[in-house]
Amino acid sequence: MKSIHVNLDKYSYQVFIEKGILKQVGKLTSQIINPGKAVIVTDKTVEALYAKIVLHSLSETNFDVKLVSIDPGEEQKSISTAEILYETLFNHKVDRKSVIFALGGGVIGDLTGFVAATFMRGIPFIQIPTTLLSQVDSSVGGKVAVNHLRGKNMIGCFYQPKAVFIDTDTLHTLPKEEMVAGMVEVIKYGMIRDAAFFEYLEKHLPEILELDDTTLEEIIYNSCWNKAQIVEIDEKEEGIRAILNYGHTIGHALEALTSYKKYRHGEAVAIGMIYATKIAIAMNLTDDTVLKRQETLLNRLGLSLSYNTLNPHDIVRTLYQDKKTIGGKLRLVLPTKIGNVIVSDKSDDKIVLNSLTSDTVSILN
Ligand SMILES: NC(=O)c1ccc[n+]([C@@H]2O[C@H](COP(=O)([O-])OP(=O)(O)OC[C@H]3O[C@@H](n4cnc5c(N)ncnc54)[C@H](O)[C@@H]3O)[C@@H](O)[C@H]2O)c1
Ligand SMILES: [Zn+2]
Repeated sequence: MKSIHVNLDKYSYQVFIEKGILKQVGKLTSQIINPGKAVIVTDKTVEALYAKIVLHSLSETNFDVKLVSIDPGEEQKSISTAEILYETLFNHKVDRKSVIFALGGGVIGDLTGFVAATFMRGIPFIQIPTTLLSQVDSSVGGKVAVNHLRGKNMIGCFYQPKAVFIDTDTLHTLPKEEMVAGMVEVIKYGMIRDAAFFEYLEKHLPEILELDDTTLEEIIYNSCWNKAQIVEIDEKEEGIRAILNYGHTIGHALEALTSYKKYRHGEAVAIGMIYATKIAIAMNLTDDTVLKRQETLLNRLGLSLSYNTLNPHDIVRTLYQDKKTIGGKLRLVLPTKIGNVIVSDKSDDKIVLNSLTSDTVSILN
């Protein structure tokens, strides 16, 4: 079993990664929390695939467990679904000694974490992420939230889990597009701080796409390790944690402009990474090889790296609405080489606009 210690003083926790770990959830949890009341929150798709294994494991270790399952989908990340979950917690007589499990993708993780953070001012929760994106990103680091009509993730807080259990077996049922979307975040870690990992991904992409368990374990471990290193230094995103937003500022603009319907998050981030690199080249921060290596790797995932049909002026305007804009200045995470990025507010609209239109003329309508 691979494990990572996320060191946040009294909020520290372990991330465990192992094929088949779902069967050990009860045993591993009982080493951290005394068996008592437990609630598993999941969605209907994940319930059908994995709830039984986790339920069984928890019952076997004397947890009094209740399962609650909601419809899948981003719309469920809402205050109204949170209220339904609070009701379940009250009915099951959950208290601050109980534990609540998030079994599913990032939607379940963010929503359940938010409910755990707010119910009775905070009860213990454990992440059991089942999508690649949630295994390498959302389950580690303690950002929990629900969406608001005014914007995604606008109502939330930082609330760390007590543990994260990652089972590579769950990736075998994940739709290919979800796997690809998660891979973009994996590649992001290579780009922002780990050149050797980027090279590893270039070399081992075929095994990853064939879902070779040892390779999957390796990439999840490296991703979580890199994220943990950043979160340990800057838990509340007051500084360096911003580099995790590489590709995300432009990515979010593309998602917002298309009402979150056209692109999967990972697809938008991939395009965002490419244009952030074009901006960095225009500012003489980096060179063409950095662009080519990313394009090649992302293309091998089958991703389209252009944002066709959107108006670059609209993209720039939307960039300013990002909640990470500070003092009206654009702050972009820009690569200097594979494995290093800087946070810069030195780009201006002209550079951004030029980069957004460079060699995309043929695909712009
Ligand atoms: N908290 C953070 O730091 C953070 C970071 C990144 C993303 N997020 C959030 O994560 C969410 C996206 O997460 P996601 O991409 O995991 O999406 P998701 O939770 O919607 O899951 C995607 C789909 O896959 C299905 N699914 C889950 N596991 C499966 C499995 N093993 N086999 C088959 N199907 C499975 C789900 O039912 C769902 O339909 C967004 O809301 C985003 O804001 C949060
Ligand atoms: Zn992301």
